[in-house]
Amino acid sequence: MKPVLTILGLESSCDDTAAAVVRQHPGRRAEILSSVVAGQTDLHAPFGGVVPELAARAHAEKLDGCVAAALAKAGLGDAPAEALQKVDAIAVTAGPGLIGGVLSGVMCAKGLAMAAAKPLIGVNHLAGHALTPRLTDGAEFPYLMLLVSGGHCQFLVVEGPERFRRLGGTIDDAPGEAFDKVARLLGLPQPGGPSIEAEAKMGDPKRFRFPRPLLDRDDCNLSFSGLKTALLRLRDRIVEEKGGLTRADRADLSAGFQQAVADVLAAKTARALKIYIAESAPAHPLVAVAGGVAANQSIRAALEQVADAAGAQFLAPPLRLCTDNAAMIAYAGIERFRLGGQDGLDLAARPRWPLDSTSPALLGSGRKGAKA
Ligand code: KG4
Ligand code: ZN
Repeated sequence: MKPVLTILGLESSCDDTAAAVVRQHPGRRAEILSSVVAGQTDLHAPFGGVVPELAARAHAEKLDGCVAAALAKAGLGDAPAEALQKVDAIAVTAGPGLIGGVLSGVMCAKGLAMAAAKPLIGVNHLAGHALTPRLTDGAEFPYLMLLVSGGHCQFLVVEGPERFRRLGGTIDDAPGEAFDKVARLLGLPQPGGPSIEAEAKMGDPKRFRFPRPLLDRDDCNLSFSGLKTALLRLRDRIVEEKGGLTRADRADLSAGFQQAVADVLAAKTARALKIYIAESAPAHPLVAVAGGVAANQSIRAALEQVADAAGAQFLAPPLRLCTDNAAMIAYAGIERFRLGGQDGLDLAARPRWPLDSTSPALLGSGRKGAKA
């Protein structure tokens, strides 16, 4: 086994173009030497959502610059070709995601691997998120992971670098997607999560009654599209009655919606923790969360409470590593490479790529690409 591994990672599966260099001495915590993320928020803003074709082109344009910046910031040298010689392998998100973007990254990584004669490692984007608690905190297997973002929502028991057991997930929208849609319905700016959270701080969560979907079912599946419909109906009723929404209406609707999402996530996390603790018998139970929605203070507090009640540690990596980035891809590449994992130049870009091939397929695909 190579004693020290330095891996360049690339990420381009949604609307962030990213490159990073991560180094790990065996048996030690990995070190992020650089992590560069170029977002595309402004590019997609006029359309109210990510436009896949525009995203793919922007990735193709930005990847080279991100790679050069990541290599330089890592202190490997200002000349990219020379710096590239100092990495041991190139890891790239090979799916799941918006296929044009994934293809841009995979093609770029193949070019770099071929030019520098370095091994190529295809990484599952969800594995990147799921392994982040090991990168940031050295989390030990098995731990429970809740991915909650604009494109993902699932519970995974992470049993090894390439062993994931999916306990459940959304059957329709991802929670971030629901926050974004609801913000649009209330005329609030995108991304919707932070807008709704800010409004909710001034609102009364009890004024409107929102459903708590799927809580009658004793499993780990979730549903968020009904909450969005409920808000739409409540909004239309107020508009019909009063001719428009007041500031207080908007705040109360936001607070009620956010409380419903937090309650559903908390109840299903409690259920997932119970299954994980019973089936995996971990020495130190741990539940970690990743994805943009984990930034929400009410949701975070609700999850922390559930973890406490179950006697489990709660871990939320720093937000820049919770949202899409390439450090998680480089790190997942290190874990895979240490197990002997590597790909040829025939590595395929995959729009769908469930982490757990034994669990049933999810319904539908998110605004930001396939959910699993
Ligand atoms: O992980 P992320 O940056 O990108 C992917 O979806 O892959 O997550 C973005 C999502 C958006 O839908 C955004 O509205 C949501 O995370 N989000 C939040 C908050 N901050 C971001 N949702 C609720 N509360 C927040 N404070
Ligand atoms: Zn992601």
